[in-house]
Amino acid sequence: MKIKTLYLVWAFIVLIISHGCKTKDNNTNSIEGKVEALLSEMTIEEKIGQMNQYNGFWDVTGPAPSGGDAKMKYEHIKKGWVGSMLNVRGAKQVREIQKLAVEGSRLGIPILFGLDVIHGYKTIAPIPLAEAASWDLKAIKKSARTAAIEASAIGINWTFAPMVDVSRDARWGRVMEGSGEDPYLGAKIGIARIKGFQGKDLSAPNTIAACAKHFAGYGFAEAGRDYNTVDIGTSTLYNIILPPFKAAVENNVKTIMNSFNILNGIPSTGNASLMRDILKDEWGFKGFVISDWASIAEMTQHGFSKDLKDAAEVAVKAGCDMDMESYGYIKYLAELVKAGKVDEKLIDDAARRILRVKFELGLFDDPYKYCNEEREKELIYHKDHMEAALDMARKSIVLLKNEKQLLPLKKNQKKIAVIGALAADKNSPLGSWRIGSDDNTAVSVIEGLKNHKVSFSYAKGANLVIEQPTFTTVVKINKTDKSGFPEAVKLAQSSEVVIMVLGEHGFQTGEGRSRTDLGLPGVQQELLEAVYKVNRNIVLVLMNGRPLTITWADEHIPAIVEAWQLGTQTGNAVAQVLFGDYNPSGKLTMSFPRSVGQVPIYYNHYSTGRGNNVEGNVFWSHYIDESNSPLYPFGYGLSYSKFDYSNLTIDDTDKNKIKVSVTVTNSSKTAGEEVTQLYIHDRTASVARPVKELKGFKKYRLAPDESKTITFELGPKELGFYNNNGKFIVEKGDFDVMVGSNSQSGLKGEFTL
Ligand code: NOJ
Repeated sequence: MKIKTLYLVWAFIVLIISHGCKTKDNNTNSIEGKVEALLSEMTIEEKIGQMNQYNGFWDVTGPAPSGGDAKMKYEHIKKGWVGSMLNVRGAKQVREIQKLAVEGSRLGIPILFGLDVIHGYKTIAPIPLAEAASWDLKAIKKSARTAAIEASAIGINWTFAPMVDVSRDARWGRVMEGSGEDPYLGAKIGIARIKGFQGKDLSAPNTIAACAKHFAGYGFAEAGRDYNTVDIGTSTLYNIILPPFKAAVENNVKTIMNSFNILNGIPSTGNASLMRDILKDEWGFKGFVISDWASIAEMTQHGFSKDLKDAAEVAVKAGCDMDMESYGYIKYLAELVKAGKVDEKLIDDAARRILRVKFELGLFDDPYKYCNEEREKELIYHKDHMEAALDMARKSIVLLKNEKQLLPLKKNQKKIAVIGALAADKNSPLGSWRIGSDDNTAVSVIEGLKNHKVSFSYAKGANLVIEQPTFTTVVKINKTDKSGFPEAVKLAQSSEVVIMVLGEHGFQTGEGRSRTDLGLPGVQQELLEAVYKVNRNIVLVLMNGRPLTITWADEHIPAIVEAWQLGTQTGNAVAQVLFGDYNPSGKLTMSFPRSVGQVPIYYNHYSTGRGNNVEGNVFWSHYIDESNSPLYPFGYGLSYSKFDYSNLTIDDTDKNKIKVSVTVTNSSKTAGEEVTQLYIHDRTASVARPVKELKGFKKYRLAPDESKTITFELGPKELGFYNNNGKFIVEKGDFDVMVGSNSQSGLKGEFTL
């Protein structure tokens, strides 16, 4: 068997070398040379085959294709008609299919195996929105690296992450998968994730190709309803939506996924101006673009393409290189080329891009490099991964309120009550995109407290769900059963402090999980109020995948901790924060609205012509029943330390390098980490600029009474913007600058460019 494998590897190398010999490119050792050589051997059907991705035979992350098509897929692999598969996992399973392609097809081109490894494979890290709240790029990079190590050990060589869609609408369920509302921070986080997944050497056996998605505008779905229409202006497109994608391309992301939505009337999947003009021509993207699940076929439903054949033609012309589950390319592209409707050069270009990534991954050197069962056993749930997940979980927690320093709780605190179904839940904290994880593998809050040697009594109060949901089912929330209330109220009555763990189920956010109500689901708000009536000493631990409208809680509850869905290590991280073994340092990356009526709400909005409240005047931009401001702004988060800002200095002598400094002092007795943020406002511009834009941040630790000077540099990159033709320009003029600990408070200054 081994000898046979060796022979095959040798034969394969000979094959590749002989490809190289036939090419006109003299540099047959270069990846480009190898790609060209291979391309020249391929039939049109084989090239189109590279552009075809099928779902695995047993698992789906989209609506399942009707009828069993496993046999057809097997046949297509043998013909060399399958470039990639998604949702096939496990070293053994991947090896089987890879073998079919490598040993069973004419040219033996290895398959790319893609999977949504979004925040971990088996060891689950916090949901991406939570990780973003850490503002810790190193930790985020490490989290992606850990995910890549586990995923690559089960045969995966390509993840459909990071999602770099900016979103301002908490109703949209997929905000959990992104980095929040800011393009500057979103770009930095996207880069960190790409570097984590792809590593320094893409051909190493533990690095995988990343995919920046969804290009473009998916996060701006109207009314926050997933897959809905996107209709936005050019300034938003160029300055908010595109920058994280551009940053991804500049940082060598290997693939881009387009999106389900129409953007100003054109489906993104068929949008040549996005994929050809901007992405490939202007930005020089060398990797390939994959459609989203069936998004080529869906162009007919958008009223844009006549039928699947037309959709395939439009998509390939627009620059979509690979078809995920529409079956449009494999069915019609050859015919379209033969009929002269599609230029074969487009097929060559797409196949070339896909083959290039395969060569870069080193799949031609060893197609089975990700299929080592020993490695799989060794690395899944590895101790180091657990530690990384714990660290990331702690860093993701945001302290929203801490009146009279109720937190941290004392280790010897007596009579602690823990209330809420989520406190005992081992599944929900894994979040929505935990495709590879095993059910019920999160450390629950209750377990975390026990691990932490805390004594407490527990009462559920009420079920959150009536049925255990799954990735593909709609969550059924308990809206009526309050039978557990009396027990919880009684427990609270006899306790000194109550930890209430409330929020959303992990499957209430994510794809297809939009909500119109952003309050605590089900009977939880009533439970909170019932407990509050008998004991006001409440620490509310929130678990959710999006900003919630917790206005009542903010008014009444003394301590609120945002604990998102923190993954495998949830309970341990929460216990460490509640009892002061970890000092929280997270800051929100999405504004929390007071009411759903304020949504979309975001800090970097424009000024209106009527922004000022003059007493008694009704004709200004406001609501008559709610304030304009968010409940908790972007960048906001408390700490057990206290940070004071002083001494803002601005040196604008060198207009290419304006220096802004502040002194930050930890005036408390607790060491802690602060995230200092710098915002600018370009007062007058040829295209009006937002009231504030984040242009720098630094995270650092300060010992008690320690002071530090934090310095930022602003250059053309930070001070310019895209005009409505998509051209980056820098305009002279006056700027306001603010440096502080969140988007609404800080020291203010100004400079002139
Ligand atoms: C649809 C989602 O929009 C996309 O993000 C994901 O990668 C694919 N399904 C594959 O699962």
